[in-house]
Amino acid sequence: MNRTVIVGAGVAGAQTALELRHRGYNGAIALLGEEHQPPYDRPPLSKEFLKPATEHHPLDLLPAQVAREQAIDLRLGTHVDGIKAAEQKVVLGDSSTVAYDYLVLATGARNRPLSVPGANLPGVWGLRRLDEAEGLRRALDHARDVVIVGGGFIGLEVAAAARARDTNVTVVELMPRVMARVLSPEMAHHFAQEHRRRGVEILTGVGVTQLLAGPLGNASEVALSDGTVIPADVVVAGIGILPSTDLAERAGLRTSDGIVVDRHLRTSDSRIYAIGDCSRFDCAVSGRDLRLESIQNAVDQARFVAGQIAATNRPPANDRPTALYTALPWFWSEQYDSKLQIVGVAPTEADSVVRGDPSSGSFSVCRFLGERLVAVESVNHARDHVAARKILAADPTRLRRVTRAAVSDAAAPLKSL
Ligand code: NAI
Repeated sequence: MNRTVIVGAGVAGAQTALELRHRGYNGAIALLGEEHQPPYDRPPLSKEFLKPATEHHPLDLLPAQVAREQAIDLRLGTHVDGIKAAEQKVVLGDSSTVAYDYLVLATGARNRPLSVPGANLPGVWGLRRLDEAEGLRRALDHARDVVIVGGGFIGLEVAAAARARDTNVTVVELMPRVMARVLSPEMAHHFAQEHRRRGVEILTGVGVTQLLAGPLGNASEVALSDGTVIPADVVVAGIGILPSTDLAERAGLRTSDGIVVDRHLRTSDSRIYAIGDCSRFDCAVSGRDLRLESIQNAVDQARFVAGQIAATNRPPANDRPTALYTALPWFWSEQYDSKLQIVGVAPTEADSVVRGDPSSGSFSVCRFLGERLVAVESVNHARDHVAARKILAADPTRLRRVTRAAVSDAAAPLKSL
């Protein structure tokens, strides 16, 4: 019987397993995950999950019962030690092996460690896993001064959740502005203002040099690169991620800040796919080689790969995938009552056309690379976002009509373009 082995039981891995069954794959499926709980949804962990006195909604993506019903061999607490690509086998921590016809690497990423003295003190948190979110929530319940290192998605979403408790919150960001990796200066400014309006102190262009312990041995102060020292009983490090490529590297697969895949999401070994946060692919929509850290990317790549594998549903040999991966990237975030939606991918050099009045709290920023629209960022403006998705998914030749002048008139619906 044909067997697909999936390494990594996050959203990309779980979605691949479910989608394989959904598409009628009748081979064996093994889903191997290091964490001890069944696959769960991560986006709520930095949002509602951290808020005080909220009902904690179920986060399950693939409960054990569903795995059984779908004949998915879900192995939790399972560390994959290596890949013997020539033998089409993965090697587990206990030295046993699992053979595959197709292997899907959905190994995700780990938090970039904060490498300053004191980074391992009690009271310093990272946030990626459920156990970290649970620990951080408990810590926030008793916190007075929260210092967040990194003004990216994690940092700002956690800042909003922490302010819901009325604690003092300071965000320390190394770059000259928050969310510089993903947002235009105009939209980043809007979010920084929203946080400041709610009492968050945002320090930009500053790094952390040391975390200092109090009398009980917990983190109690943060020393900054400008010489200031600020009090902190909870420190959250959200300074980005490192893709988990070790297994792939040791198996001799091509890697470069991610596991390099082709337009079919196959690695340099055609029996092995890589999807989600760990996958570096040639993005058809942006024409760039990139890695995307988003749920949309994890889910769409999982569906695509499941489709490719399910289509083979017969013994190896002439199973050449033909479809190309072309999904349109989109992202979202929620901070206070601002819902951010982004569609497309804008490199940092892209420039901006603001659409609507930022002071109204509902506007968009259209990002252009030369004369070409490449992304649209919207806050509390679902109509623009939905229209932008259609525009950016359309035939690129039709994008020529979408000029700076056309998008800058907020009175004219984007839909009309
Ligand atoms: P990020 O890459 O979004 O932001 C990291 C921030 O830390 C950047 O602004 C960077 O300039 C800053 N930074 C880096 N080193 C620093 C230092 N030494 N001192 C101060 N600032 C420093 O990564 P983040 O926020 O850690 O998120 C981790 C992952 O989780 C990402 O993949 C992100 O996309 C994902 N995520 C996505 C969300 C969403 O889509 N809404 C929500 C939460 C997390």
